[in-house]
Amino acid sequence: MLRTHTCGELRMEHVGTQVALCGWVQRIRDKGGMIWIDLRDRYGITQLILEEGQTAPAILEQARILGREFVVKASGEVIERKSKNPNLPTGDIEIKLAGLDVLNPAKLPPFLIEDETDGGDDLRMKYRYLDLRRGSVRRNLELRHKVAQQTRIYMDGQEFIEVETPVLIKSTPEGARDFVVPSRMNPGEFYALPQSPQTFKQLLMVSGFDRYYQIVKCFRDEDLRADRQPEFTQIDCEMSFIEQEDILQMFEGLVKHLFKTVKNIDLGEVPRMTYAEAMSLYGSDKPDTRFGMKFVELKGLFDTVDLTSGKNFAVFDNAELVVGINAKGCAEYTRKQIDELTDWVKRPQIGAKGLIYFRHNADGTLKSSVDKFYSEEDLKQWSVRFGTEPGDLVLILSGEANKARKQLSELRLEMGSRLKLRDPNQYNVLWVLDFPLLEWGEEEGQPEQGRWFAMHHPFTSPKQEDIALLDTDPGAVRANAYDMVINGTEVGGGSIRIFQRDLQAKMFGVLGFSPEEAKAQFGFLLDAFEYGAPPHGGIAFGFDRLCSIFGGADSIRDFIAFPKNNSGRDVMIDSPSTIAQAQLNELKIAVK
Ligand code: AMO
Repeated sequence: MLRTHTCGELRMEHVGTQVALCGWVQRIRDKGGMIWIDLRDRYGITQLILEEGQTAPAILEQARILGREFVVKASGEVIERKSKNPNLPTGDIEIKLAGLDVLNPAKLPPFLIEDETDGGDDLRMKYRYLDLRRGSVRRNLELRHKVAQQTRIYMDGQEFIEVETPVLIKSTPEGARDFVVPSRMNPGEFYALPQSPQTFKQLLMVSGFDRYYQIVKCFRDEDLRADRQPEFTQIDCEMSFIEQEDILQMFEGLVKHLFKTVKNIDLGEVPRMTYAEAMSLYGSDKPDTRFGMKFVELKGLFDTVDLTSGKNFAVFDNAELVVGINAKGCAEYTRKQIDELTDWVKRPQIGAKGLIYFRHNADGTLKSSVDKFYSEEDLKQWSVRFGTEPGDLVLILSGEANKARKQLSELRLEMGSRLKLRDPNQYNVLWVLDFPLLEWGEEEGQPEQGRWFAMHHPFTSPKQEDIALLDTDPGAVRANAYDMVINGTEVGGGSIRIFQRDLQAKMFGVLGFSPEEAKAQFGFLLDAFEYGAPPHGGIAFGFDRLCSIFGGADSIRDFIAFPKNNSGRDVMIDSPSTIAQAQLNELKIAVK
């Protein structure tokens, strides 16, 4: 070993010891007679001290030519510091330098290697290996390591076995595009990279493995956002001889274990909500339940008495849904602030046509932006339905139900952020249950031809009591499918699977596959179901998302060692890139 200790471990009890440390030069302060050097490694920072008259002139001279990020070995005696630094774990001591070896000089880094850096995103990504030297980024990867270790401890304790599944596979339909890899030995044919190991883990159940998990890379060629990467990691799990309740209990257990061991938080029982409730109360299947601001309908689809029609206000008269939120304490919003919110909902990303509001003023009066159409008496009824109190502001959207819900959901989140109701240190975990089995959609590139798509994936089982509806009203069939949501992010999703060949074949039929197409794509699974498939189900957690939530960050990029940018590029290694003509020839691929 070149060192006796790390830069994070020396304390008062080491005073008087001769030590050798290795690391990177973080900072040098040269005050003429005295020089201080901060030496950094993965474990921390230790201060070295040199003094004219005390330190050998050759070492002083050498110290004066050091630059930031030089790699050095420093040796000397641990002494007590005169002025201690309570912010540093090693802040009570320093090393009286007696030996200094430059192990490697370094070019000046293009940005400051500090928690607060001056480097922009692009620059940091290009020099990601330097970015990773920063404590804040390193701590994120340490957290990731801990989450992975604790996952393995829990899963192993529950008799799950980790099995690796292949990366060069055949496309599995999970809703995104596949990344494909040409096969040299089979010209004109391609492997697909797995969007998830879904079919393999089901086959492992047929093989009798009973409890499987894997911390596994998945690949999806989709548009990127803060919580999406083209390659990401799942904690992928599957169990046999279980019902939905068993899965919910088992994985609530995992999440509780992770909160306890990683964050020291005792998570209570995880509340549950149906998809239908989530949509009507929050307009989203992944509601952020850290704050209320639940949706209230003035004109609804079910059971609600319409409080808007018949007053000649065409916007509401023509709307399928009139729905709003109570922004408590916002009655003081100025006209300008409300205009700004109106512009916000009218942006193309949100797409609302306008925003209606009413104030419950501090003096008890009610005032709306549609006073021309609605009397004080009408507003009183609205106020009762919203449960407003003096000081509240109600924001209302209307239109086609799904659209209005989606728009109001965005507005609710925005208001939650503006009112600081989304505390990153508060964790609201939620199960969303009973998703619809199918959703109506249009095939990519064929806008005219709508068909049913699996909302989760084609292997998800319908609820027993809804199976008959598959023939009559497919859109009403509910699935044994569930998502786990934390603070408005979908961190995991899964389902109880179809395990009977006939039902699986029927499902492929509903999804528009001819029997031949189903056989060509999924023959292996249909065949397997004829050899004694046990009832089974599972779930997959987005591992990067879990880590970013534990780390209190919005972007999963900060928790991935070498992430891609928003165009799917790795700017450090400069990939994707063109390949040599010879390689293309070998693969029999012609590029225009
Ligand atoms: P699903 O597609 O819901 O289910 O994925 C499971 C979880 O993976 C995370 N996730 C992502 N994270 C980062 N970047 C992405 N591009 C990305 N896409 C998904 C989400 C999501 O909840 N095979 C099924 C699981 C099952 O049925 O057992 C599946 O993959 O957190």
